[in-house]
Amino acid sequence: MYVCMCKGVTDHRIRREVDDGARSWRDVREATGCGTQCGKCACTAKAITREAVSEA
Ligand code: FES
Repeated sequence: MYVCMCKGVTDHRIRREVDDGARSWRDVREATGCGTQCGKCACTAKAITREAVSEA
């Protein structure tokens, strides 16, 4: 599912970033650009990041 329409970032992409070593929303944002345009996706993307990090 697309989380960020502006940057074309999916929940899978966020989880993969965490698998590859991202440990915070800031890491994910810097790696993907997610949340850097309109910002509407930030809340959902943060929650997915938090969940993925807690499972890592
Ligand atoms: Fe993610 Fe706009 S939907 S920055």
